[in-house]
Amino acid sequence: MLVVEGLVKRFGGFTAVGNVSFKVDQGEILGLIGPNGSGKSTIFNMLSGTFPPTAGSIAFEGREISGLAPHRIINRGIGRTFQIPRPFRRLSIFENVALAGFYGQGGHSRARADQAAEQALGMVGLPTDRAARVDGLGAAGLKKLELAKALATGPKLLLADESLGGLDETEMDQAADMLRKIRDELGITIIWVEHIMGVLMRVVDRVMVLDHGEKISEGLPSAVSNDPRVIEVYLGTDADATQAAAAEKRR
Ligand SMILES: Nc1ncnc2c1ncn2[C@@H]1O[C@H](COP(=O)(O)OP(=O)(O)OP(=O)(O)O)[C@@H](O)[C@H]1O
Ligand SMILES: [Mg+2]
Repeated sequence: MLVVEGLVKRFGGFTAVGNVSFKVDQGEILGLIGPNGSGKSTIFNMLSGTFPPTAGSIAFEGREISGLAPHRIINRGIGRTFQIPRPFRRLSIFENVALAGFYGQGGHSRARADQAAEQALGMVGLPTDRAARVDGLGAAGLKKLELAKALATGPKLLLADESLGGLDETEMDQAADMLRKIRDELGITIIWVEHIMGVLMRVVDRVMVLDHGEKISEGLPSAVSNDPRVIEVYLGTDADATQAAAAEKRR
């Protein structure tokens, strides 16, 4: 569904993403992890057209999309959430979501936008009542709103950037279940960026790990969590020593 080759993003002399290639299959949930500043959101920004890549290609359903404007990418069927939600606080929850639907698959039809908002809000479990205000939403509610806005654009591929940030453990499990439900029930393919690895690993089919803008590991969750390069990045210690210590403990 998505084929990314040799993706590069430089900001001045700094390389935020250096030569990353990956594929996403239809119906898959791909986890994208890596330390702060490793280039995860920058990859999302290039996939969603927030800014063009410095080099490389992005093919979605067989057509090149790199460098297209965000609204054109939304209309091709890629929706995204933002790591930091910035809803319009003077609009109601419903209006925020309907607005996303209006400019997405709603095709500038008010009726279709309202319908998209009803469905998206129902999916994430937010009130569909037209007057409910954004101000009453806590962290979990704001994350749900972010997902509902992305869903209202009618994506085939959803880019979810840190859907668990600021949530407690119960809310995290609920958010993870929701992403799985979005894939299972709506058939939406997902790339999910997250810091909370334990929760992510339970839900994703495959994981890709970035460090300093480069892919250092990719594969099934069980294989990636035992990859010495990944252990080294996350524990900041010599991986051999870590594994030796773990083996010692098991004895
Ligand atoms: N618009 C920009 N201009 C300059 N530098 C940027 C810009 N966007 C990102 N960067 C830099 O690129 C690097 C990668 O940032 P990015 O936001 O992709 O990281 P991330 O993996 O999403 O991190 P986090 O887990 O903290 O969200 C960082 O060093 C960041 O400061
Ligand atoms: Mg980020």
